[in-house]
Amino acid sequence: MSRTITGRTVVAGVAGSPVGHSLSPLIHNAWLEAAGIDGVYVAFAPGADRFDRFVEGMRGGAVRGVNVTIPFKEVALSMADKASARARGAAAANLLIFESDGTVIADNTDGIGLIGALQAQAEGFDPAAGPIAILGAGGAARGAASALVAAGCPQVRIVNRTLAKAEAVAGALAGAVVACPLTAAADAFDGVTAVINATSAGLSGSGSLDVPLAATPETAVVMDMVYKPLLTPFLAEALRLGRPTVDGLEMLVRQAIPSFEAFFGRVPPADLDVRAVALKALEA
Ligand code: ATR
Repeated sequence: MSRTITGRTVVAGVAGSPVGHSLSPLIHNAWLEAAGIDGVYVAFAPGADRFDRFVEGMRGGAVRGVNVTIPFKEVALSMADKASARARGAAAANLLIFESDGTVIADNTDGIGLIGALQAQAEGFDPAAGPIAILGAGGAARGAASALVAAGCPQVRIVNRTLAKAEAVAGALAGAVVACPLTAAADAFDGVTAVINATSAGLSGSGSLDVPLAATPETAVVMDMVYKPLLTPFLAEALRLGRPTVDGLEMLVRQAIPSFEAFFGRVPPADLDVRAVALKALEA
């Protein structure tokens, strides 16, 4: 990288714990370099119980904003002075902007990433066309459910090992969201247009996810929010069954686009294949 840091360099970043594995610095800095923007994107690792102090420090205006990742997304929302409807719906923020007057604004671009990835890799996908099943009931699942409801999905089925957690998400989002136990996944898959894995299963080194994907309609899109490995056992099973698939890397790249715009005031350069840049790092 041959960029020069100047007196006008705009600083943005990502805050998480741990954060060293994040691909976001690679993605944003590749865009900055390709667009010739005087900016830099770095990783911050506040102590797990000190995120509140980190945000307070940012009110001084030194940094334009940060993406927020595990485990700070929920507390990030609670620290903000203003929040977008989509951040409130997700009950989490993946983006904080630090205004020069000290105001902290929370947003959530994960839903844009999710729906953008579905539409990019499953051509013609319409979130409003039918019911969608989400596996898991943690923060990622809640964010996905609220984004899909906002996009017009007529019914989101939260399928989780611990039913009470699925019921809590369904209760918080009301209306178009229902809870199902993982043991009844086959019923929950009936007639869906998509199944989305939002559990932590499939992450390198974690347990596998045992679900009857064959019970989905043949046209159902199967998506995994996990991107490491890119081809998770869940997606491999979907491919074996001939289902169209969508990977988590596409979601990661697509949530970064509106974040970049919020930090640097410009859309990322379209002529850079940033997915290829990220893929290379994933494969290394
Ligand atoms: P996040 O906030 O990132 O979504 P989380 O709150 O830790 O993460 O939630 C992880 C989700 O993955 C939970 O819904 C969990 O199920 P439980 O609520 O029953 O614990 C789900 N999960 C993790 N490993 C799983 C596995 N092997 N099979 C099924 N579900 C799994």
